[in-house]
Amino acid sequence: MSDENAILLDEVLRRYEHSPNPRLAEITRGAIRHLHAFVEDVQLQRHEWAAAIEFLTAVGQICSDTRQEFVLLSDTLGVSTLVERVTQQSSADATENTVLGPFFVPGSPERANGESMLEDDDPGDRVAIRGRVTDLRGNPLAGVNIDTWQNSSSGFYACQQPGVQSADNLRGIYRTDADGRYEILTIRPTPYPIPDDGPAGKLLKDNGRNWWRPGHTHLWFSFDGYKPLITHLFDRESAYLNDDAVFGVRASLLRSFLPDSSGILATTFDVTLDDSHERSVAGSSPTESDSAESD
Ligand code: BEZ
Ligand code: FE
Repeated sequence: MSDENAILLDEVLRRYEHSPNPRLAEITRGAIRHLHAFVEDVQLQRHEWAAAIEFLTAVGQICSDTRQEFVLLSDTLGVSTLVERVTQQSSADATENTVLGPFFVPGSPERANGESMLEDDDPGDRVAIRGRVTDLRGNPLAGVNIDTWQNSSSGFYACQQPGVQSADNLRGIYRTDADGRYEILTIRPTPYPIPDDGPAGKLLKDNGRNWWRPGHTHLWFSFDGYKPLITHLFDRESAYLNDDAVFGVRASLLRSFLPDSSGILATTFDVTLDDSHERSVAGSSPTESDSAESD
């Protein structure tokens, strides 16, 4: 960094030193340091910065109640996965988490163990996902809430196709039994393209990147006193496992679907929940003091 640029950076950082919210100051000053280094690193030109601002403007403009392009951008840059890793910091013995994604919709119907969450016609293979939820010491956890959702064989989630799929197709809330066991009947998950018709998709394509995800089923485990676990089960035989558009694949989450004694394709997804406390960061919300002021 030239002397002049280092003086500019110091001056900018100094003006953000005395924020009433120390966590906000830490985050803002960190972002400034990295942004200045980035501009120097790639020798960013004026017209390129203007194009970047135009790009971010388009990202904001396409957002709506049902579309969050900033989340998609964060996912495709690997930032969502990094934030997940930094935040979760569960015990090494707990089941690994991965990205939430934009297609979780609260309010899925409660389903009994062994009930199918497929409500519409679908050519997909019928499969069973069975497992047992335990704590870090191997004790079964009864009554764990398992919110699950998945795309249909058309490559879309029900929430992406209102009027085409039933609203509750391929989603449901299951609960573990007294022995910690659960059973979800569904279809074998298939790969699908993430929304590619906006600026995040254009950035992928302009960089020659893939915009498909490998076949997976989303599972969100919640139980009082335990860290919530937001994760996926991936089909070990799926395409795109080595090139997931959003960097969500974990080796520990790959499973094989094999015929069981009744002939149905089945897989086992045992889960360990962590009851240690989440890492708390001083000041909790970076914008806490802003909202306190505006109240
Ligand atoms: C998903 O798995 O639903 C998803 C995750 C990140 C971006 C797009 C989709
Ligand atoms: Fe998904």
